Amino acid sequence: MSDPKTFDYRSVRKDFPILASQVRGKPLTYLDNAATGQKPLAVVEAVQRYYALENSNIHRGIHYLSEKATDAYEATRGKTAAFIGATDPDEIIFVRGTTEGINLVAHGFSNAILQAGDEILISHMEHHANIVPWQIAAERTGAVLKVIPVLDDGSLDMEAYEDLLSERTKLVSIVHISNALGSINPVEAVIEKAHARGIPVLVDGAQSSPHMPINVAAMGCDFFVFSGHKVFGPTGIGVLWGKREWLERLPPYQSGGDMIEKVDFEGTTYKGIPGKFEAGTPHIAGVIGLSAAIDYLQGLDRSAALAHEGALLQAATEQLSAIDGLRIIGTAAKKASVVSFLIDEVHPHDIGTFLDADGVAVRAGHHCAMPLLKRFGVPATARASFAFYNDFEDVERLVSAVSKLKRFFT
Ligand code: ALA
Repeated sequence: MSDPKTFDYRSVRKDFPILASQVRGKPLTYLDNAATGQKPLAVVEAVQRYYALENSNIHRGIHYLSEKATDAYEATRGKTAAFIGATDPDEIIFVRGTTEGINLVAHGFSNAILQAGDEILISHMEHHANIVPWQIAAERTGAVLKVIPVLDDGSLDMEAYEDLLSERTKLVSIVHISNALGSINPVEAVIEKAHARGIPVLVDGAQSSPHMPINVAAMGCDFFVFSGHKVFGPTGIGVLWGKREWLERLPPYQSGGDMIEKVDFEGTTYKGIPGKFEAGTPHIAGVIGLSAAIDYLQGLDRSAALAHEGALLQAATEQLSAIDGLRIIGTAAKKASVVSFLIDEVHPHDIGTFLDADGVAVRAGHHCAMPLLKRFGVPATARASFAFYNDFEDVERLVSAVSKLKRFFT
């Protein structure tokens, strides 16, 4: 890992105009990056240029603008594949976000793979987006949802995981980094053990894609999903990557224009991948913005940026832990960019509101991970989450606002 000091976050911050803004009369301290990342000007300008000067539908027109938009859209598949260490652009399916990517796979599994009595294995630290689609798939097919427990420090119980794998397991679907705790799961080991039994693995990369280089080939997963807006691109665009043989096995998720080969009232044939999964006019501007976001990230010294993020997390963890009555939920040895905490009996929503008055933006609530918070005996936490453009002043403002809150409430 690079020396965090070599990362020039001061000049990087200039690429994000929102970071210089004020909220409630205070400088913005944006620590809600696990919810969504801010957008560099390059992304904003790419989307604006497309709508202002290049707007056209894709795959349909024979005219100049349509060809240009089609080229930009299709070129992003290869760029996105390279961003996550894949080689085949056809294995990149553009979806609305991580949630839709998982729904697509769950729909495919419930229609083409799952039978009554089969098992789907997820973990106790999943986001609702990696729980509910599988519950619905289980209801539809008679399959059974099994849950890998989480240890007290917020790490995955790998021994229990091995015991849960069986000849009935048809898929393991696991989060790479917990959005609520920041725990980094040992997905390579998870995949190795599943593959030893011929079981495919889906990795939810919504939180890992902004915080570590992704290489699906090295990781070995069968599906990987992530959201554009968390990697500093637009909302409403996301990516499902899947191994060709799996994507070819799954039926279409939605149907309509552009996903067909031939339509006849006697019957319809579908395109191959990726077109089969992209019915209707897609989020073209979103893909163009995602392309700009990937270029932006690739242009950074990513290793130094991630080391800087690690230093911020360490500083925030140490300084918050020193506040009397503050409890951090999620203390796994391997963590990224999230500090989830409680203070005495103060409700996390009050923590969020109090910090907001000082311009400090954090998320408070169940973080769309209700079963996980129940596991820790709490209904909610306050969560500060970092990105490479945060700085040590952000940490100072967070800690000082939390200290002020502590004095106020006690
Ligand atoms: N899943 C996002 C979060 O953790 C929205 O805040």
